[in-house]
Amino acid sequence: MEVIVAKTAGFCFGVKRAVDEVYNQIRTGRKPVYTYGPIIHNQQVVDELSAKGVKVIRSEEELSHIHEGTIIIRSHGVPKRIQELMEKSGADVVDATCPFVKKIHHIAEEAGKHGDVLIIVGDPDHPEVQGIMGWTDGEVHVVRDADEMEKFELKPGSHAVIVSQTTYNKRKFEELVDIFMKKEYICNVNNTVCSATDKRQTEAREIASKVDAMVVIGGRHSSNTQKLYQICSEECTHTYFIETLVDLDMKPFQSFSRVGITAGASTPKSIIEEVTLMSEEMNVEENDFEKMLNESFKTVHNGEVVEGTVIDVKPDQAILNIGTKADGILTRNEYSNDNSLDLTTVIHVGDKMEVKVMKMNDSEGQTLVTYKRLAAEKGNKRLEEAFENGEVLKAKVVRVLNGGLSVNVEGARVFIPASLVSDTYEKDLNKYMDQEIEFKVIEFNPRRRRIIGDRKQLVVAEKKKAQEELFSRIHVGDVVEGTVKNITDFGAFIDLGGADGLLHISEMSWGRVDNPRSIVSVGDKIKVLIKDIKGDRIALSLKFEDQNPWLTAADKYAAGTIVTGKVARMTDFGAFVELEPGIDALLHVSQISREHVNKPSDVLSVGQEITAKIVDFNAQDRKISLSMKALENDREADEPMQRLEVPADALAGQDDKDE
Ligand code: F3S
Repeated sequence: MEVIVAKTAGFCFGVKRAVDEVYNQIRTGRKPVYTYGPIIHNQQVVDELSAKGVKVIRSEEELSHIHEGTIIIRSHGVPKRIQELMEKSGADVVDATCPFVKKIHHIAEEAGKHGDVLIIVGDPDHPEVQGIMGWTDGEVHVVRDADEMEKFELKPGSHAVIVSQTTYNKRKFEELVDIFMKKEYICNVNNTVCSATDKRQTEAREIASKVDAMVVIGGRHSSNTQKLYQICSEECTHTYFIETLVDLDMKPFQSFSRVGITAGASTPKSIIEEVTLMSEEMNVEENDFEKMLNESFKTVHNGEVVEGTVIDVKPDQAILNIGTKADGILTRNEYSNDNSLDLTTVIHVGDKMEVKVMKMNDSEGQTLVTYKRLAAEKGNKRLEEAFENGEVLKAKVVRVLNGGLSVNVEGARVFIPASLVSDTYEKDLNKYMDQEIEFKVIEFNPRRRRIIGDRKQLVVAEKKKAQEELFSRIHVGDVVEGTVKNITDFGAFIDLGGADGLLHISEMSWGRVDNPRSIVSVGDKIKVLIKDIKGDRIALSLKFEDQNPWLTAADKYAAGTIVTGKVARMTDFGAFVELEPGIDALLHVSQISREHVNKPSDVLSVGQEITAKIVDFNAQDRKISLSMKALENDREADEPMQRLEVPADALAGQDDKDE
């Protein structure tokens, strides 16, 4: 299989300059280092920078809280007002706006000074366009396409200045300018489409038109990569859009004889090289007999492991004598995944190293070698053993990807998909970064770069073991300690260490509970009573028998006692009155008043405090009956007696008269 890699693939001048500046500030700048917006549309690079402490400022509001460190303006640029805010913040400001974009800012600023109307051809939502808009004080319009340009009108006598977004299609920009010129306005046209974009698109179209399959590498949200994908798809039906090698299924590639590769302006070289190498390795696997035969005449072959002696080291590459006419070149990317590693700190002249030959290039006197991949192969052997033996491995998480985790086992990478990280859905995988985790290898296919790990099965097995241990230990009636894990409207789930039990709202107190959150909070450690166990379901309770209010109720609520309580709820036949938490008494509708009451809610309301007489106490059924009517009757019976009460001295006087 022939692999054609676009010369224009990957970082453009402006993006490379901005990314290099971030690494430079990581080494030398005031900390913390910030970028205003993600430095590029590439999650892998953004994640890697985040791991090195680079923070992303996502809004003007966030910017207002920053008063130290270094703020880097990315290649898209920012509006003038934002730049001024940065300069006043107290942090150092490093302007990595691409010089081509800066030139447009200058045109915009001049247009504003002369009272000219600025027309930007581009996407109004793109940060570059928003940045340009913020450099003119005058009238500004963004025109997205030919339709909008047809409808566009200016006030008579206006003078216009036209610029384009740098990544706009050159041909389309010219079409829009033609439409505008027909309107006969006075205007000054500046074609600011970046030639890097144009060249990248032209080359991608050219390659796509002559290959069997085309691979476009770049961030899903990168507009220039999306555009490349669209162009390549028009020319080649087998066009694949991938972010990293992990997204690429190599299976269909066995039937292709020519494959093209291009990449968006935000795609790091290392990812392009990985995909290229993988495609080239397919060559060897295909047993291209003729090529193998040719290579057999060389002193060393692609893929051969050789020992070399380091004869020179620079921060980004080392040169090795590998015993052939051409020296071995070991680049930083082929030594480590750390893009900022200074090789002089880890490799020294005279060191002996085992490396693998990647590519012979005698015409330029160079042989590209890799240390990283050889280490990965050794790691692969370890992974293969672990896969065959079902061994549990422990390794560090080195990258958090969109769809899972990447762990490093002796230089080899294992991908653990998000669905296999845990037994529950993990919203944010970042907490695993740099953590050592255990897992099993469940798929080992290094040829297709599919080495898949599974942590979930270990978590499930561990929980099952803990669950079995818990069920063998607990019995109905036991009091155990647990932690409140989750609260719902109907109760709370308590983690008992191996399984969760349900503490239903009705079991939270002897009294009435309206909201479980008024009794427990997530994280509380509480002692609970095991009320019931059915299969793997455990019912819990906080109604401990020694606190049961009915134990002392007979003393407090004997028939004839006058009590006060609050109406807790009502039915058509009566009202339930809470005498104390856990003890409700029934006030039957017929016992509310001596007058006829149709239904309790006609004369009572929930929460109302009432006084009544206990007319029945049934200890066996735990029922208490109240009567307000009886109380009224008692009062009336007392009243005539009170009316007949006569002072003693008056009675004495009467006796005298009688005498
Ligand atoms: Fe600059 Fe052109 Fe890249 S404008 S950021 S070099 S696409």
